[in-house]
Amino acid sequence: MKTVAVHTGIPYEVSIGRGLLGRAGEWLAGLTAPRVAAMVADDTVDALYGDQVQQSLRGAGFRVSRMRFAHGEASKTLETYAAVLAFFSESQITRSDIVVALGGGVTGDLVGFAAATWLRGVRFAQIPTTLLAMVDSSVGGKTGVDLPAGKNLAGAFHQPVGVLCDPDVLSTLPGDVFADGMAEAIKYGVLCDEALFNRLAGGLRPEELETVIGRCVAIKAEICAEDERDTGRRQLLNLGHTLGHAIERCSGYGMPHGHAVAVGMVYAARIAADLGLCDAGCIARLKAALRANGLPTDADYPAQALAGAALSDKKRSGGTLTFVLPRAIGRCELRPVPVERLPDLAACALRPDV
Ligand SMILES: NC(=O)c1ccc[n+]([C@@H]2O[C@H](COP(=O)([O-])OP(=O)(O)OC[C@H]3O[C@@H](n4cnc5c(N)ncnc54)[C@H](O)[C@@H]3O)[C@@H](O)[C@H]2O)c1
Ligand SMILES: [Zn+2]
Repeated sequence: MKTVAVHTGIPYEVSIGRGLLGRAGEWLAGLTAPRVAAMVADDTVDALYGDQVQQSLRGAGFRVSRMRFAHGEASKTLETYAAVLAFFSESQITRSDIVVALGGGVTGDLVGFAAATWLRGVRFAQIPTTLLAMVDSSVGGKTGVDLPAGKNLAGAFHQPVGVLCDPDVLSTLPGDVFADGMAEAIKYGVLCDEALFNRLAGGLRPEELETVIGRCVAIKAEICAEDERDTGRRQLLNLGHTLGHAIERCSGYGMPHGHAVAVGMVYAARIAADLGLCDAGCIARLKAALRANGLPTDADYPAQALAGAALSDKKRSGGTLTFVLPRAIGRCELRPVPVERLPDLAACALRPDV
């Protein structure tokens, strides 16, 4: 088992190890006195792992109340959020109780936001079950739901009291959902760890998962601890996301997030090469690594559509968008760009590689 400490305002630990799910009760009892645990999962995850976790929590002395909601991003809404709050109310959750989010990023974001706002904030624990949630969304305290006007527009910063990752649960994950998580893992490699990138470049064996998740979490934890509220260095985690989000938007959110981020990283590398920041070899290595992990390296949207979609990025600050651009595999920098330059940059992102 591995433990990674996250030194945010209220610190916590991420525990990573095969078979930990069956010991979730013991783990949670180490974080809080066993009272009521309100456990929320989507229907798929609930059917696969709900009983096992409930049993373990009960065994450790928790009184468990349980709720499930329909899986998928379409549930990350104010309606489901209200349903989760109603469930907390029925379960009579008080500030001394604990909320448990069991599932992927949708569950963590939705349930974390409900925990952040119920009684002005109750404690919550994350048990991520997708690779994306393990390496990314369960750490760092961003919670929220989508609005008709856009993704993640309503939310709060609310750190969990602990995160439990059991890589064994990834064995039931569909291949393309696993690949989404690989895109974020490759992102950390490009950002600041060439050795991690090289390890991921040919695909990943199940026995490497624990080490790789641990390394990704350590990178995210270090960046978030330095910039918990996302005003500076944390923006580095947006590598591939500025144009990635634009691609998601252009696809009507039909393209999964990790797939769009994969393409967004290729686009960022092309822009960086055009500015003379990195060489063509960097683009080629990135594309090969993404392909080896079942991820796309291109999408079909014209420059104008991409630039238009990027304009509505919620991270835009006045007339400026900050791009994360690679200088090499393992080294990136932040580049504020005036929005008037977006059409040029989008055109450059689409230029075929030589
Ligand atoms: N808070 C953050 O910092 C942050 C960071 C990145 C992404 N996100 C958010 O995360 C969400 C995407 O997360 P996701 O990709 O985990 O999506 P998800 O939670 O919808 O999970 C994807 C699918 O996999 C299924 N699933 C989950 N675990 C499984 C398992 N072990 N076996 C079989 N099926 C399983 C789910 O039922 C779902 O259908 C987006 O809403 C995104 O905005 C948040
Ligand atoms: Zn992402």
